[in-house]
Amino acid sequence: MNFPDMTPLVQPERENGTELCGLRADCAAMKDVEKSREGNLNMHTTQVITRENGFGIGDYWRMFRAKGIRLPIDYFLQAHLFDLVNGTDTHTATIIEGSTVKPLGLQDYERPYRCSWTGEVNKAFAALRQILGRDFERYTFVDIGCGKGKVVLAWTKLLRRAGLDQPMIGIDVHGPCITGAIRNRKIIGAGSDVPGAPSIRFVHADARTFNYGEHGNKLIVYLYNPFSAAILQSVMAALNPIAPVIVYNNPVDLDVMTSFGYRIVWGKEGWHPNARTIILMKGKSLEQEER
Ligand SMILES: C[S@@+](CC[C@H](N)C(=O)[O-])C[C@H]1O[C@@H](n2cnc3c(N)ncnc32)[C@H](O)[C@@H]1O
Repeated sequence: MNFPDMTPLVQPERENGTELCGLRADCAAMKDVEKSREGNLNMHTTQVITRENGFGIGDYWRMFRAKGIRLPIDYFLQAHLFDLVNGTDTHTATIIEGSTVKPLGLQDYERPYRCSWTGEVNKAFAALRQILGRDFERYTFVDIGCGKGKVVLAWTKLLRRAGLDQPMIGIDVHGPCITGAIRNRKIIGAGSDVPGAPSIRFVHADARTFNYGEHGNKLIVYLYNPFSAAILQSVMAALNPIAPVIVYNNPVDLDVMTSFGYRIVWGKEGWHPNARTIILMKGKSLEQEER
């Protein structure tokens, strides 16, 4: 079997988020008092300081100075354009202030929100349709660490265009991200707000304790390098009984996946860590199975 863009993967670089976007900060302090809709989150009254960043020409200038012309061009095409076309706000970063602030009692909660690049979502969608064939629609799509919902909403648009349907879930531990995702879902005209639209749920929950089993045993899990290896290890343990198909963008902690018996079945390289994506399945790689 042939898969598009199958290339050997090199060990990805660790990405520096602030270097990636170099965003300007319009600081706004807020207290996270959201209640978990699933009731499976340990709520703490720890103050969560977030910076909802504005975005402007200065940010493109900073990208250009950091990485040359390619980064601002790709950033525009792969992140900013989605929002311009759809009227959403998915690309501006939300940064958790201060390493000592541990929202919701989490440890190791250090990654800021940034969105996946559109081309990575498109290519993973096309590859998965090929890999899963007729079974594709029987899977539920889960973006773990969904942020403001970019991937779920891009996936919705791809499903619509292909005349397909799939239940979709986005989960994030950071309440303001889920609020933003729900706002974006409304703008795009999807989810429970729109009669007849595909089912999209955005859930405020910790990926380590989320009840994945409730959503069946056919899951496509999307991860854009959302947390440290230690948290990924716990999330993979929670997912283990289901053995989902995994789309892993910027696959920094590939060794955690392989330690759980996952093998790469498709991959694409890219010039930037955000432009590298792999698809993994448990057990033998499809190449091995063909032999
Ligand atoms: C890099 S962003 C990815 C956003 C989105 N998946 C995308 O690709 O556009 C990582 C997200 O993971 C979330 N996150 C970090 N730790 C988490 C945890 N333990 N449970 C759920 N979400 C978490 C962060 O709040 C952040 O929004």
